[in-house]
Amino acid sequence: MLQFVMLLLLPINSLDAHFPKPCTTDEALKTRTCCPEWEDSPCGVRAGRGECVSYNVSENANYVDYREQWPFHFYYSLCRCHGNFDGFDCGQCKHGFKGHHCNISYMTERKEIHSLTKEEKTKFFNYLEFSKTRISNKYSILTSNDTSKESTLKFINASLYDVYIWMHYYATKPLKGTGRNVAHQGPAFPFWHRMFLLSFEREVREMTNDDSFFIPYWNWTKSDHCDICNNDYFGESNATGLISDKSQFSKWKTICDKDNDSLGIICIQALKETSILRNPGGDPTYNTLPTSGDVQRTIEVSNYDMADYNRSVKHSFRNTLEGFDIPQDFRKLNSAMHNLVHNYFNGTMSDIPTSVNDPIFMVHHSFVDKYV
Ligand SMILES: *[C@@H]1O[C@H](CO)[C@@H](O)[C@H](O)[C@H]1NC(C)=O
Ligand SMILES: *[C@@H]1O[C@H](CO)[C@@H](O)[C@H](O)[C@H]1NC(C)=O
Ligand SMILES: *[C@@H]1O[C@H](CO)[C@@H](O)[C@H](O)[C@H]1NC(C)=O
Ligand SMILES: *[C@@H]1O[C@H](CO)[C@@H](O)[C@H](O)[C@H]1NC(C)=O
Ligand SMILES: *[C@@H]1O[C@H](CO)[C@@H](O)[C@H](O)[C@H]1NC(C)=O
Ligand SMILES: *[C@@H]1O[C@H](CO)[C@@H](O)[C@H](O)[C@H]1NC(C)=O
Ligand SMILES: *[C@@H]1O[C@H](CO)[C@@H](O)[C@H](O)[C@H]1NC(C)=O
Ligand SMILES: *[C@@H]1O[C@H](CO)[C@@H](O)[C@H](O)[C@H]1NC(C)=O
Ligand SMILES: *[C@@H]1O[C@H](CO)[C@@H](O)[C@H](O)[C@H]1NC(C)=O
Repeated sequence: MLQFVMLLLLPINSLDAHFPKPCTTDEALKTRTCCPEWEDSPCGVRAGRGECVSYNVSENANYVDYREQWPFHFYYSLCRCHGNFDGFDCGQCKHGFKGHHCNISYMTERKEIHSLTKEEKTKFFNYLEFSKTRISNKYSILTSNDTSKESTLKFINASLYDVYIWMHYYATKPLKGTGRNVAHQGPAFPFWHRMFLLSFEREVREMTNDDSFFIPYWNWTKSDHCDICNNDYFGESNATGLISDKSQFSKWKTICDKDNDSLGIICIQALKETSILRNPGGDPTYNTLPTSGDVQRTIEVSNYDMADYNRSVKHSFRNTLEGFDIPQDFRKLNSAMHNLVHNYFNGTMSDIPTSVNDPIFMVHHSFVDKYV
């Protein structure tokens, strides 16, 4: 099962699972080349940042789902970046580096969301809003009503935030013919999400030209109910599940959430019509949040992961953190830890593939990342 771990970690670290706009032109798709220019040369080769490399992709590659061997279904030539350079055109720095030469190492400390200063908090929510409302000039999202035909694959514009919703959804849709996916229910779970958060932070920093941006974490063990579901943070909601119109998030529309997997659809519901729904604690089988005891029990599991590397494995740190290894206690819950937090919201957050539609996802996963 280890091939699932590798899926999004191929040598092409410069192309995350998104589609750079310059690689969605007919020409790029026809020549299967994704080597965009950085300062007038492909992959910034003249500046010594990287080079365009052609991979020998076997014609009879033996895969069941075209997302395997990412991104070779689409491209054979890709940028390989040198040193600390990174990004689809080698125009970015690897995580943890900045500066024109990407040789200044730096660190940003993620804080608990309640300990942000007034300025940090305002900035966080303003930048989220910015990322949701401004169309990305770098990335497109893929949509199709029928993935068996290349002719129905279509790239459309999306905001940066929507690109990240799409990415998580795209990686989490089960691989054809299996119940599995590359981002969950296996050893990659913590690291896939770590890269996701780092990548989103880097894009927001670039978009806002502000290196200090970080995703705060929400310590959900501090309370047995959602203490950020108020209009000071992510918005309060009533029995309808709708968020109060006093919150900026009442206007956020969800994407990709109406798909029917059996038809091989990718995000045809990219038209924004549906609002975020949240009914915290509304489902009696998931009506509380994990406790600090649960966290303690999780970090005491010493085996990172083991056979069968799936959601059934017992005494695995990864599976305990993810929340499939459920403690048998008085709470009689149907999930634990990470999963329980998703289920607790009884709405947009509860559908894992599209859960990024609710921005609580970000602060939730920032806390999950703290224990990895
Ligand atoms: C692809 O195959 C050719 C011929 O076998 C070889 O010369 C070339 O180095 C290979 N390229 C890569 C990137 O492996
Ligand atoms: C970064 O690289 C540039 C160019 O090679 C060099 O001038 C500079 O001193 C380096 N800075 C650090 C912090 O290493
Ligand atoms: C997508 O955005 C680009 C600018 O990044 C614009 O030129 C193009 O017209 C947009 N396409 C559609 C279909 O809106
Ligand atoms: C998918 O969309 C194409 C073009 O819009 C259309 O011709 C085709 O009938 C659609 N297929 C399905 C299964 O809905
Ligand atoms: C989370 O909250 C618990 C309970 O208040 C506290 O013991 C713990 O130190 C906090 N952890 C972090 C990382 O903030
Ligand atoms: C619930 O909240 C929504 C959004 O603020 C509002 O439109 C609706 O009238 C409210 N419904 C009830 C029953 O309070
Ligand atoms: C998905 O599509 C299949 C085939 O048309 C249909 O049988 C099934 O009921 C649909 N499921 C949902 C949840 O709409
Ligand atoms: C986990 O893997 C084992 C061994 O392959 C299998 O028996 C079990 O059904 C799997 N669990 C799930 C939920 O797929
Ligand atoms: C919310 O909880 C109810 C049970 O109270 C359940 O039937 C429903 O499926 C849940 N909805 C979501 C989106 O989780």
